[in-house]
Amino acid sequence: MAEADIRKGLAGVVVDTTAISKVNPETNSLLYRGYPVQELAAHRQIEDVAQLLWTGELPDAAQRHTADAFERAHRALPAAVIAAVDLLPPTAHPMDVARTAVSVLGAAHPLAGDSSREAELEKAAALFAVFPAVVAYDQRRRRGQELVEPRDDLGYAANFLWMTFGEEAPAEVVRAFDVSMVLYAEHSFNASTFTARVITSTLADLHSAVTGAIGALKGPLHGGANEAVMHTFEEIGIRQDESAEDATARAKAWMEDALAARKKVMGFGHRVYKNGDSRVPTMKAALDAMIEYYGRGEILGLYRGLETAMEEAKGIKPNLDYPAGPVYHLMGFDTGMFTPLFIAARITGWTAHIMEQRAANSLIRPLSVYDGPDERHVDAS
Ligand code: COA
Repeated sequence: MAEADIRKGLAGVVVDTTAISKVNPETNSLLYRGYPVQELAAHRQIEDVAQLLWTGELPDAAQRHTADAFERAHRALPAAVIAAVDLLPPTAHPMDVARTAVSVLGAAHPLAGDSSREAELEKAAALFAVFPAVVAYDQRRRRGQELVEPRDDLGYAANFLWMTFGEEAPAEVVRAFDVSMVLYAEHSFNASTFTARVITSTLADLHSAVTGAIGALKGPLHGGANEAVMHTFEEIGIRQDESAEDATARAKAWMEDALAARKKVMGFGHRVYKNGDSRVPTMKAALDAMIEYYGRGEILGLYRGLETAMEEAKGIKPNLDYPAGPVYHLMGFDTGMFTPLFIAARITGWTAHIMEQRAANSLIRPLSVYDGPDERHVDAS
């Protein structure tokens, strides 16, 4: 038998076409259905991006109005999800809570067995609409606070922050949060999206595919990195009264030690981008705005220290999770909630891929080379 060409981690393997997004590492660019993500982040909200990813086009005013009416009508957490979440101990990781909630939503959905395009569009839009309530409720119950009902006079981002914190967020904060949602929405065949496509390829339903994708996103090599970034900041120590320069010096020293110990530092590096993540400059601008708004220069100091020391030692650049972690921290989210926030946005991309996979399906089933023991036999005596 000819030597098999094994590509560990499927690195460099092209498995299908997609019309949803294009990642170009040569030009550090990312297009959603042809539109540069930076333009979408600057001029549109996550509600528009969701429609773009699902339908292929940005909504016109009438389409946006219809989509908003649906989204606002589907924001409240069903009683079954509240009951399921309440069964979980407060020690459960928020990603496990999120995964459980999506599973319950799928089992209870009236269209659970219907995988037509119309049904999947409806299920995707309903999941996008309700998921913020899962995150908001989970953070609040951990803090011993009551559930806050959604407000249908607020947009997606403003309502998300309202349900989480029980007060209206200022416009700058809503804007930065919306930008993070747009940037997290979609990124071609990453591990969680590929997981969703593998599950869909067996003709399983949309909620099963999203539940599996959440499992893949949890790991620190993927979405879990935004949470891990904050743990790094916490390990170095966030000192609100410290100057940015002192924070930079401590962060640099921490990074030098970590790299000397051959540690992988989360929030840096990327499988596809080798010269910088296309989404980082936009997210970093949102971080700068939040640092200024909250008056927290020491966070910028820590950020610069880690980034500079990594660049000097290894030339490895930050990925989106690096600026996103501190943005969510400054807004007041608990660190464990950061990856569920990523889910909230990525539900749009995952479900677009689920519909694309189903429309031109082929079971995803690769091969392997067996390297276990030679054939042997059970002693029948
Ligand atoms: N910290 C320290 N070293 C890193 C690194 C990091 N974050 N990312 C890559 N490297 C180093 C590796 O140690 C390796 O060095 P070596 O050749 O001396 O062993 C080299 O860079 C190549 O890394 P590798 O992990 O093989 O590349 P990959 O393409 O498989 O990895 C990631 C991509 C994302 C898995 C990797 O960069 C990583 O683990 N990053 C941290 C997790 C993270 O932030 N994930 C979110 C991605 S959006």
